[in-house]
Amino acid sequence: MLAIDDKDFGTPERKSDKLVTLEVDGCSVTVPEGTSVMRAAALADIAIPKLCASDSLEPFGSCRLCLIEIEGRNGVPASCTTVVEPAMKVRTQSERLAKLRRNVMELYMSDHPLDPFECKAGGKCELHEMAHAVGLEHVRYNHGGRHHLALEIDDSNPYFSFDPTRCILCSRCIRACDERQGTFALTIDGRGFDSLMSPGQHQHYIESECVSCGACVQACPTDALMEKTLLEKGSAQRAVITTCGYCGVGCSFKAEVRGDEVVRMVPNKNGLPNHGHSCVKGRFAWGYATHQDRVRKPMIRKRITDPWQEVSWEEAINYAASELKRVQAKYGNGSLGGITSSRCTNEEAYLVQKLVRAGFGNNNVDTCARVCHSPTGYGLKTALGTPAGTQDFDSVLASDVIMVIGANPTEGHPVFASIMKRRLREGARLIVADPRRIELVRMPHVEADYFLQLKPGTNVALLNAMSQVIVTEGLANETFARERCEPREYKMWRDFIVQPRNSPEAAEQMTGVPAEAIRGAARLYAKGPNSAIYYGLGVTEHSQGSTAVLAMTNLAMVTGNLGRPGVGINPLRGQNNVQGSNDIGSFPHEFSGYRHVSDPQVRSAFEREWGVTLDAEPGLRIPNMFDAALDGSFQGLYIEGEDIAQSDPNSQHVAKALEAMEIVIVHDIFLNETAKYAHVFLPGSSFLEKNGTFTNAERRISMVRKVLPPLAGMEDWEVTCALSRAFGFPMNYSHPSEIMDELARLTPIFAGVSYEKLDRLGSIQWPCNDAAPEGTAVMHVGEFVRGKGRFMLTEYIPTDERTTPRYPLILTTGRVLTQYNVGTQTRRTKNVTWYAEDRLEIHPHDAEQRGIRDNDWVELSSRAGSILLRTELTERLQPGVVYTTFHYPETTANVVTTENSDWATNCPEYKVTAVQVLPTSRRPERRTAEHILHAAAGR
Ligand code: SF4
Ligand code: SF4
Ligand code: SF4
Ligand code: FES
Repeated sequence: MLAIDDKDFGTPERKSDKLVTLEVDGCSVTVPEGTSVMRAAALADIAIPKLCASDSLEPFGSCRLCLIEIEGRNGVPASCTTVVEPAMKVRTQSERLAKLRRNVMELYMSDHPLDPFECKAGGKCELHEMAHAVGLEHVRYNHGGRHHLALEIDDSNPYFSFDPTRCILCSRCIRACDERQGTFALTIDGRGFDSLMSPGQHQHYIESECVSCGACVQACPTDALMEKTLLEKGSAQRAVITTCGYCGVGCSFKAEVRGDEVVRMVPNKNGLPNHGHSCVKGRFAWGYATHQDRVRKPMIRKRITDPWQEVSWEEAINYAASELKRVQAKYGNGSLGGITSSRCTNEEAYLVQKLVRAGFGNNNVDTCARVCHSPTGYGLKTALGTPAGTQDFDSVLASDVIMVIGANPTEGHPVFASIMKRRLREGARLIVADPRRIELVRMPHVEADYFLQLKPGTNVALLNAMSQVIVTEGLANETFARERCEPREYKMWRDFIVQPRNSPEAAEQMTGVPAEAIRGAARLYAKGPNSAIYYGLGVTEHSQGSTAVLAMTNLAMVTGNLGRPGVGINPLRGQNNVQGSNDIGSFPHEFSGYRHVSDPQVRSAFEREWGVTLDAEPGLRIPNMFDAALDGSFQGLYIEGEDIAQSDPNSQHVAKALEAMEIVIVHDIFLNETAKYAHVFLPGSSFLEKNGTFTNAERRISMVRKVLPPLAGMEDWEVTCALSRAFGFPMNYSHPSEIMDELARLTPIFAGVSYEKLDRLGSIQWPCNDAAPEGTAVMHVGEFVRGKGRFMLTEYIPTDERTTPRYPLILTTGRVLTQYNVGTQTRRTKNVTWYAEDRLEIHPHDAEQRGIRDNDWVELSSRAGSILLRTELTERLQPGVVYTTFHYPETTANVVTTENSDWATNCPEYKVTAVQVLPTSRRPERRTAEHILHAAAGR
């Protein structure tokens, strides 16, 4: 059924305490002051014809279709731009209005096919709907006069086409690009009859600034802008609301389906993380789900050098279970383990950790969050009592100062970036701290007040210096710090932070950021009044990742920027379910809800529910699993949805560890790099093929709903249950909702969560319990979860990874908008149009010293290994720093990253590697497992 409630009220909602009552067609309506007449009428179920208006865009008043009459006034104003007034009497229907509207429509249709069946949208466009609504049956002017019908179609974008012959110049696309997306890629080019909507100045879409978010396509009321899949496959017959499978923004989508094919993904207007907006990945890059590379049959082999043999599910599961039992009998309980992934649903990840703890009998379970946001968990839990972001996304709309550190939202979290850009355009001030000049530093209508271009690895020095400025210049919120935080720790921290080694001048030496800029940024942040910090892996993936998270928390506590909308500490989580995979207990030391395995009360609750005795000792973390595999004590691993051979640091070490194990079971949708070391391959289901939930970066649990049947016949949660049963620990659920019920029974922060409530509310931010039955948008209001906030001493300790004459440059890494992590999904979509290989960004000065030009092949070497890639000369970086992404296995950037890691959590130090870059005549080959294993160059 397509009948999902997405009624368009014509103009956006206005918020006001003052209410206005008016009369529309004799009906009394009461609305907030500032509301348009069009919206007031729509709220009373009176539809006024419209073309240029939409409730996701500010009113524009160009089409003249929405005319109304107002008692006591001359003329026929546009209802979309007319604001309600008390006692106003509005008439939306009259002979005069009907005639005027028909005349307007006739002019539009004279340059457009009147027959709805000629419409590429199959007559389902608003233009044809409006022609019908105003009673236009024929057009007096034919196409013999001046028209636009000979204009050329712009097919340059891989996902949608623009047919200017169908354009009515309503500007909805332009306003969507400006207001919703904040890219300003579109314009009206030319004058009068020659006016045309155009990307840039006479450009094709693909050459313009367009980032393919799809907002213009969504906004277009005609068939001028259309998704190519819709043109190819026809319109949808049913729709299912689900959640994007890519990043931690967790956008809600309407998956539109025809037969057993998805025809398009439309951002859900009622989706709370995205409010109807999307990025190129979620909106268009879903074709990987049916890519020919998807594995549809389980496979087994005795040795990793043998060819794969396709077998039945039963045979694969039995073989996997018998091998796990054999290894357990031979090497003991501690020899087995599992790895969950942030791509899995909460329910799937929960089952994997349950299999490990209750079935294997140890706590050797870990997750890929180990390599990204584990310092977030540690830092926020230590200081505030809960290891999660403090706000909802919409909180940023109440921020006066936004500090973005070690994150690149326009590339990594694009839909949230659009909300943030909107607030910045409204006047919020911006501080960016990053080694690389990210797009936010300067873009249309957004410019950072301070761009603190620090050296990689020096976040803690910068944050400490900002805190010192605040304390020494009397900018601290003493009332907040003294009332809400532990007094002893606060005093100790004040004594520490005022030390000369934490001064802006000392920080300038370490970070390279001028002391005056640090002072300016600190003053701006302190004066807010509402200041918020947003951060990403540029903070966490360091040897001092946890220290930096604590330093940010100190900064927020000393200025009182916690516990209300507009403030807070907000991790921008990379993958769709990083938050959830942590929440449900994927770490070796914690059960769900972040409770230590050594806590006897918590353990006994799980023991009662699961009917087994549980190990009180924390299990192995991922890097310890690899070390134990090389020692011979860890011999069996079940990996669901995670490509550790590609995504973990020092790929050669990982490859050797995997090669050393006797049974490796990979459960994934593609034969990934890790599968090259596997003995059993269990085909997974994509996000379109299963039921479950994801939890996004704002702690929001959203439903993932099955849109299509699983390609390989089983949903992932069913596979884990089958494996567990065959291993000897029965798990019997008939639906993932039962898994969520169990999780809710065992976990106080989820106590009030159920599928029924998720269906009813759309999504829920945890904690959700008796105290907060509908969830919690902003945390730590009035009191921190741990009671008093805890200031921590954050001594800056430079990383051991230093430049040397042999490795004189620092490599740091990041991601691009169109690709996603190791590229397994996005490389199998048309997103490769924009980014077909990883590039090495290098400053022209460093390039010139080495005789390197733009686009040259170079060899990038570190102490761990070397890779080949092409250059992009850019001044986005400071001299001495180079940058690359890690989306392609051909470059396998993790070959060069080292084993340094965060002191508290082992999160790898991906963001700082000493390297050399030299010209080369060599060219990369497609990397194979052997290639990674033996790529010892540079060691
Ligand atoms: S796809 Fe998005 S970025 Fe591109 S023109 Fe349309 S609204 Fe703008
Ligand atoms: S392309 Fe569509 S949205 Fe844009 S101006 Fe033309 S009709 Fe309006
Ligand atoms: S911002 Fe993230 S969640 Fe939203 S559509 Fe893009 S990839 Fe999906
Ligand atoms: S809808 Fe009001 S002028 Fe177009």
